[in-house]
Amino acid sequence: MDKLKMHSPDFVEENIARLAELFPNCVTEVKSQPRMNTNTHELDQNISENSCEFVVKKAIDFDLLRQELSTSIVEGPQERYHLNWPGKREALLTANAPIAKTLRPCREESVDFDTTENLFIEGDNLDALKLLQETYLGKVKMIYIDPPYNTGKDFIYADNFSETTEEYLLESGQNDEKGNRLIANTDSNGRFHSDWLSMMYSRLKLARNLLKNDGVIFISIDDGEVSSLRKLCDEVFGMNSFLGLIPVINNMKGRNDKDFHAQVHEYIIAYEKECFVSNGLMLSAEKRAEYNQITSDGKKFQWRDLRKRGGADTRRERPNLYYPIYVNPDTRDVSLKNDDSFSLEVLPVKSNGEDGCWRWGRDTLQNRIAIVQGRPVRGKESWNISYQVFLDTPESGEKREKPKSVWMGSEFSTDSGTKAVNSLLPGVNAKEVAPKAVGQIRRMAEMALSKSDIVLDFFAGSATTAHAVMQLNAEDNGKRKFIMVQLPEACDEKTEAFKAGYKTIAEISKERIRRAGKKIKEENAITAPDLDIGFRVLKVDSSNMADIYYTPDAIEQDLLTGLSNNIKDDRSSEDLLFQVILDWGSDLISKPIKQETIAGLEVFFVENNQLAACFAKNGQITENFCKELAERQPLRVVFRDSGFKDDSVKINVEQIFKLMSPHTDLKTI
Ligand SMILES: C[S@@+](CC[C@H](N)C(=O)[O-])C[C@H]1O[C@@H](n2cnc3c(N)ncnc32)[C@H](O)[C@@H]1O
Repeated sequence: MDKLKMHSPDFVEENIARLAELFPNCVTEVKSQPRMNTNTHELDQNISENSCEFVVKKAIDFDLLRQELSTSIVEGPQERYHLNWPGKREALLTANAPIAKTLRPCREESVDFDTTENLFIEGDNLDALKLLQETYLGKVKMIYIDPPYNTGKDFIYADNFSETTEEYLLESGQNDEKGNRLIANTDSNGRFHSDWLSMMYSRLKLARNLLKNDGVIFISIDDGEVSSLRKLCDEVFGMNSFLGLIPVINNMKGRNDKDFHAQVHEYIIAYEKECFVSNGLMLSAEKRAEYNQITSDGKKFQWRDLRKRGGADTRRERPNLYYPIYVNPDTRDVSLKNDDSFSLEVLPVKSNGEDGCWRWGRDTLQNRIAIVQGRPVRGKESWNISYQVFLDTPESGEKREKPKSVWMGSEFSTDSGTKAVNSLLPGVNAKEVAPKAVGQIRRMAEMALSKSDIVLDFFAGSATTAHAVMQLNAEDNGKRKFIMVQLPEACDEKTEAFKAGYKTIAEISKERIRRAGKKIKEENAITAPDLDIGFRVLKVDSSNMADIYYTPDAIEQDLLTGLSNNIKDDRSSEDLLFQVILDWGSDLISKPIKQETIAGLEVFFVENNQLAACFAKNGQITENFCKELAERQPLRVVFRDSGFKDDSVKINVEQIFKLMSPHTDLKTI
């Protein structure tokens, strides 16, 4: 029972809790002097007056909070419990800094471009995460990532925040041919851990925003960075959001790369955003077969012993759970009262003769008495007490089970991951892309996702996550959607993949999804005919808007003549459509698109009439065209500014919509 507090609320604590919801990383622990109660003049927490003990309590890290609310680096060291490394503030700044970039659709590389609800984003995930902030804010149920483990051989993408990194890159000439900043993070680099942490910090911060409140993130990692990643996640997600550190046995034979031991496992770190509830796992066929009893009304069940087993199972430890239960030997029914019918007393006794205890207290037993029975022990004089555990019932749904805290089995092995890629992409040596096992990601998806949820993987690699999601959808006719993000990291010319024609890892990922999707669809043609195996390819690129749009001050006055068009020449209507969707912050980015011609002009309709976009230019937009469009009552409409001959046409068009479709939100670019 909750205790009455008997004092007015502690507003400081409440305020800290409110801030923690927005900025969990800014909550820290500090030591403070014991507080004096002003009414009683007593010290808090029973600390004696001359004690030199400190109270450690929650507090706000104002430096970090100032950094969150600032566009430049904030200085200020302070003694407090937190994870720190050189470059942390810059990483936060990087996460918060806006970018003038967009996502450009690429039909040729997509599958079912107009109808699919899956996305494949090609580019640096920091940019992708920023671009998705509004569209997917609070919408993603599960994030899975398998980042570079910082083994000393990885390339990491140096974010553009640090002059020293830039200088270093210029000096060492490690920019790739596109000017990207992929650097080898070798352990001789003085900032080996710091660079990796900075890279992860900014991305995890942005990723957290995308999670639903009941969402969850799973991160694969190995011994190298597991401890710093856990502390980093404590900061980004909050310590209370930690769900588990799961060792995954992925190589039963053991690797031969360490002197100390043969490594057989790596880890998955799991954090919730706020209130994740796991679906658990489906029971295996063998486990279902154990429910081999049946009630008169057809429900399958198994008997389970009421005597507690495992930890805290003795009378000494749980005296309240030790009491007699009385059995009617004729009917086997049980009662808490002893009378002529219920004459047989049964006590919880352990096999070593020690007094044990029951699983439930008296009240719970009384409430569930209908499913409890006395059962004679075969070959002995004594009786046990058992209760019915049902398989699937209309009330409780399908029986599920909790996954164990260690994952082990061939479906999680590195080998199965490599085989899956090798069989789909025979020319590629799968080891070069280090794919995860489909079974591992399928299990996380099963635990976390309902049938229509969204899953994001922003270190997609060979896109095992997409494969696993399509697989699970095929099994249960689900409509889960995926968003993959992958850098077009160049394949080394010496790799099998390069020789087989794949220039980048992103090309491998897309081809894997195409082939895996086709195979899964063929295998499940009858049971899952509507399976979405498509994906819309969007590439991170510079904004569609000419520079003047972002820096009008920097353009000299006499250059303005001829710059009436604020859109770059090489951008298509479809490019503009996607930037509009992003800027509008709606989730239409993965919704079906239809193109129609109205009064001679091309119009895009997204998700029926959620958005209508016409990017006609040179004054082509007429009042007649607008009347036809307004009749459709679209929710949002966007035109290109130069589509209006002059301001009077624009005003008339506004009037037309006000009259014919007053709920339409009208905008121009
Ligand atoms: C370990 S692999 C992921 C393997 C993947 N789980 C699979 O099953 O194939 C990590 C991937 O992240 C990609 N990557 C690294 N930095 C990135 C960045 N900044 N943005 C997007 N992808 C990145 C790398 O190219 C690499 O393919």
